[in-house]
Amino acid sequence: MAKKIRIGALASGGGTNLQAIIDRCADGSVDAEIVLLICNNPGAGALQRAERAGIPTLTIDHREFAERKEFDLAVVSALQEAEVDLVVLAGFMRIVTETILDVFPYRVMNIHPALLPAFPGLHVQKKAIEYGAKFSGCTVHFVDTGVDTGPIIIQAVVPIFDDDTEESLSARILAREHKIYPRAIQLFAEGRLKISERRVIIGPPLAKSDEDMINPPTS
Ligand code: GRF
Repeated sequence: MAKKIRIGALASGGGTNLQAIIDRCADGSVDAEIVLLICNNPGAGALQRAERAGIPTLTIDHREFAERKEFDLAVVSALQEAEVDLVVLAGFMRIVTETILDVFPYRVMNIHPALLPAFPGLHVQKKAIEYGAKFSGCTVHFVDTGVDTGPIIIQAVVPIFDDDTEESLSARILAREHKIYPRAIQLFAEGRLKISERRVIIGPPLAKSDEDMINPPTS
C-alpha cells in the first residue's frame, strides 16, 4: 500500500465527486486522506458531505475579497497550513491562477465533463449534444493557467444517444466521473504519473481497471 497522501479539496456545489473520493478513501481503494475542504460558496452541498465524513471545512467566500489575488492567497495559505500534497478541484467554479499553481506545480487536478480538448468551458454536455457528437465523456487533468487545457491524466468515454437530454447525458457522464477521479488520485498517490512535455505517462504496473478507463466499453 502506498503512503497516504494529503488532499485539499476545493468545491463550489453539490459535491458528488467529492463524495466519490471520500468513499474510495474510506474503503481503502485510494491511499489518501482529505484533510481540508475549502468552499467559495457558503451554500455548497459539498460542505455537508465533508462534515458528515468528519473532514475539516473552510468557507472562503470570493465575494468578500476586492481582488482575485487576495482570495487565491487565502486559499493557498489554508492549503499550506493543512500541508496538502495534492489539490483536487471537485466542481470548483473559480479560475485557478498562478498564485495557486506556482505553489502546487502539477499538484492541482480537475475533472471536466467532456472529452478534452473537445468542449472546454461550461454547459458542455448540452454543447456536445447540439454539436451532434456521438460520444462524449469525462477527463481528469492537471490544471494549468488555461481553461481546461492542462495535461490529461485519464478519460472515460460514454455514448450520446439520439434521445439524450442535457440531464440524461450529464448523469451518464457523472457516473463515470465518480470512477475515474478516485482512480486518477490513486495513480498520483502511487507516484505513477510522469509528465513528458504535455503528456501524462502512467507508469507500470498498469492495472486492468486503468485499461478500461482509457478505452472503456461503450455498451
Ligand atoms: C461535474 O460535472 C464536474 O465534471 C464539473 O463540475 C461538476 C461537479 O459536480 N467540474 P459535483 O459537485 O461533483 O456533483
